[in-house]
Amino acid sequence: MRLPVGVKVAIVAIVVMGSYSGYANYIPQIESKPPQELSLEGGNVTPAQLIKAGDEIYKTKGTCEICHKIGQKGTRAPDLAGVGARAAKAKPGMTAKAYLIESLINPNAVIVEGYPPIMPAVDKPPIALNRSEVWALTAFLQAQGGTVDVALNDIPATVGAGGGGGGAAAAAVTMPGDAKVGKTIYMGKGGCLACHKAKDIPGTPVGPDLSQIAKIQTPDYIMKKILDPKGMGTVAGFPPGVMPQTFGQTLTAKEYTDLVAFMLTLK
Ligand code: HEC
Ligand code: HEC
Repeated sequence: MRLPVGVKVAIVAIVVMGSYSGYANYIPQIESKPPQELSLEGGNVTPAQLIKAGDEIYKTKGTCEICHKIGQKGTRAPDLAGVGARAAKAKPGMTAKAYLIESLINPNAVIVEGYPPIMPAVDKPPIALNRSEVWALTAFLQAQGGTVDVALNDIPATVGAGGGGGGAAAAAVTMPGDAKVGKTIYMGKGGCLACHKAKDIPGTPVGPDLSQIAKIQTPDYIMKKILDPKGMGTVAGFPPGVMPQTFGQTLTAKEYTDLVAFMLTLK
C-alpha cells in the first residue's frame, strides 16, 4: 500500500459516514481483508476524497498500471494523461463523463486508434470493481485535465452487480486442467518461455511478461489468444505475427487445457 495511513483512514471514514458504531466495527474488518472493498453508496463525499479513492484503486485493485502509464507513451495501452479533457471529443454527441464511464464498463464500444481491443470491463472478473469503485475511478480520470462532476447516479446500477468483489464469479471459471502439468507444457512443448517471462520462470522480452496475465485478462481472452493470436489483436508495443499461430494444431486438447489452467494461476 503506497498511501499513508491517514488517507486510508479517510477512506474508511467516507465508507461509514455518520455512523459511529459502524466506524468502530469496520476497522478490524477492513484491515483483515485486503483487497478492500470500497463502498460509497449513500455516502456524502467531496470530489477531492473521491479522486483520492480513485487514485488508490487505479494503483492497486484496478491493476490499471499493468497496462497504462500516466505521462508515458508507447506502452501497451494509451497514456491516460489528459484523458479527462480529451474524453469530451472522443465520441461525437457523448459527454466526457459518459465516454469515461463507457471506457471502463464497455471498453470495446470505442477502440482508441492504434490499440487492440484487449481492455477488460473493469466491473467484471478478473478486476471486478464495484459501483462505488467505478465512480471513484471515473472521478480520478476526469481529474486528468477535465472537470470532476461525476455522481454515483451516473454509474448504472447494474455495474459490478453480482461481482461479489470478484471472488465468487472468478471462482466459477476454473479450468478442468492440471496447472502443474500445464507448467511443464509452458516450459517444454509449448516453448512459451522462448518469448515470455512468467513469474519465477525466466523468459525473453520478445512477448509481454505474463506474470500477472490472469489478473488483467479474462480466461476467455487467454484461451483464444493461445489458439488465435492474430485474431485477438496485437498487444501494443509488440510486433504482430510473432506469436506462433499453430498451437491449436500442435497441442493436444489435454495439453491445451492444462496449459490454460496454468495460465490462470498467473496473478
Ligand atoms: C489488459 C490491459 C488493460 C488494463 C488492465 C486496463 N486497460 Fe484501459 N485500455 C487498454 C487498451 C489497450 C486501451 C485502448 C483500446 C480501447 O480503446 O479499448 C484502453 C483504453 C482505456 C481508456 C480510454 C482511453 C482514451 O484515450 O480514450 C480508459 C479511460 C482506460 N483504458 C482506463 C483504464 C482504467 C482506469 C483501468 C483500470 C481499472 C484500465 N484502463 C485497465 C488496456 C487496458
Ligand atoms: C516466438 C515468440 C512467442 C512464443 C513462442 C509465444 N508467444 Fe505469446 N506472444 C508473443 C508476442 C510477440 C506477443 C505480443 C504480440 C501479440 O499480441 O501477438 C504475445 C502475446 C501473448 C499473450 C497476450 C499477452 C497480453 O498481455 O495480452 C498471451 C496470453 C500469450 N502470448 C501466451 C503465450 C503462450 C501460452 C505461449 C506458449 C504456448 C506463447 N505465448 C508462445 C510471442 C510469443
